[in-house]
Amino acid sequence: MMVCEYKPGLEGIPAAQSSISYVDGQKGILEYRGIRIEELAEKSTFLETAYLLIWGELPSKQELEAFEHEVLHHRRIKYRIRDMMKCFPESGHPMDALQASAAALGLFYSLRDLHNPAYIRDSVVRLIATIPTMVAAFQLMRKGNDPVRPRDDLGYSANFLYMLNEQEPDPLMARIFDICLILQVEHTMNASTFSARVTASTLTDPYAVVASAVGTLGGPLHGGANEEVIQMLDKIGSVENVRPYIEDCLQRKSKIMGFGHRVYKVKDPRAIILQNLAEQLFEKFGYDKSYDIAQEMERVVEEKLAGKGIYPNVDFYSGLVYRKMGIPTDLFTPIFAIARVAGWLAHWKEQLAENRIFRPTQVYNGYHEVPYLPIDQR
Ligand SMILES: CC(C)(COP(=O)(O)OP(=O)(O)OC[C@H]1O[C@@H](n2cnc3c(N)ncnc32)[C@H](O)[C@@H]1OP(=O)(O)O)[C@@H](O)C(=O)NCCC(=O)NCCS
Repeated sequence: MMVCEYKPGLEGIPAAQSSISYVDGQKGILEYRGIRIEELAEKSTFLETAYLLIWGELPSKQELEAFEHEVLHHRRIKYRIRDMMKCFPESGHPMDALQASAAALGLFYSLRDLHNPAYIRDSVVRLIATIPTMVAAFQLMRKGNDPVRPRDDLGYSANFLYMLNEQEPDPLMARIFDICLILQVEHTMNASTFSARVTASTLTDPYAVVASAVGTLGGPLHGGANEEVIQMLDKIGSVENVRPYIEDCLQRKSKIMGFGHRVYKVKDPRAIILQNLAEQLFEKFGYDKSYDIAQEMERVVEEKLAGKGIYPNVDFYSGLVYRKMGIPTDLFTPIFAIARVAGWLAHWKEQLAENRIFRPTQVYNGYHEVPYLPIDQR
C-alpha cells in the first residue's frame, strides 16, 4: 500500500469529487453550481439556492413553486418532538438542542430508502422545513413561552423571524436574513460537510447525517466563531482598545476570531457582502458602535497579518448583522445550521450517487509488544 505524507487537518487532500460549490481562495471567488455568490445574493432566494445546490440546476417557476409549497406544508414539528424539547435544560446550548432534535426526527422516519427519489425529496423537504421551527421552538421554550405555529402566509425567512420574535419582521430584515442564509448555505469541503459525507457514506438515514454535521458545526473553530466575534467586540469595548488587544493576541499566539481561513487568503467574498448588509441595517435601524471597532480591527489585522493572508472571514460581520436583528448570540450558529442543512443534503445526495465508505488510514506512533501490568503493580 502506498504510504502518503501525513497532513494534519488533511490540508490539501481531496476527500471527494464534487460539483456543488467552488472556491478560489486566492481570488476570493465562491460559486454554487458555477454561479457566483454575489449574483445569487442579489437575485436569488434561500429556497431557490437550496434547490440549485441539491438538484444541480436552477428550478423552473413551477418547480420552485412546488418546492416552496412542500416546504411550507412541512414546517410544523410533531408534538412529541416539541414535548421532548421541553425536557431539555434551558441553560443548554441551542446547538445541542438542535442536534438532539434533528436526530430525534429520524426516529419517526426510520425507513432508509436511499435509492428512492421520493424518499430523498421527502427527507430534504422535511429537514429544510423543520430545522428553523425547532430552533425557534427551543428559543421560546427556554424563555418559558409556548412555541409559535408557523404562518402559512409568510415566506421561509420571514416566517422564521416571526416564530423567533413572535412578531412579523420588517421586510428589509427578512430579505437580509434570507441573503445571510444564501451566504452560509454551502462552502466546499469544510469540517461539517466532511462530517456529513462520512456519516452519509455508511448509508445511514439523512437525519443522522444532519445531526452529525450539526455537532461538528458547533465548535468555535467552525460555526461557533461568529458568537465569539461578538463577545470579542464587546470585550474590546472601544476603538482605542483594538490595537493593544490585537497585539496581545499576537504575542500570546492566540487566534483573533473572525479572521483567517484555510482556503481564502484574501477577504472572504461573503464577508464583503455581509459588511454591506450590516451597513444597510444600520442605516435603517440605527448604528451599532461595535461596527467602528470591527472596522478598526480589520485595519490593524491587515497591517499586521496581511503577509500571512489573514483577512475577515464569513463570521466576522455575520454576528453584527444578526445582533442588529435582535437575535441572541447563542442562536448565531443554529442559524448557520438552518442555512447549511441544504448544503449538507446536497453533499448527502452526491455522496450516495457514488458511494464508498470513508475509511482513511493513520500513522501509528504508539508502542508495540507492551506487557500487561497487573493492577497492583502500576
Ligand atoms: C479558520 C482557521 C481555523 C484556519 O486555520 P488553519 O488553516 O489551520 O490555519 P493555521 O492555524 O495553520 O494558521 C496559519 C498561520 O496564520 C495564523 N493565523 C490564522 N488565523 C489566525 C487568526 N485568526 N488570528 C491570528 N493568527 C492567525 C496562525 O497563527 C498561523 O501562523 P504561523 O504560521 O506563524 O504559525 C483559523 O484561521 C482560525 O482559527 N481562525 C479563527 C476562528 C474563526 O474565525 N473561524 C471561522 C472560520 S470560517
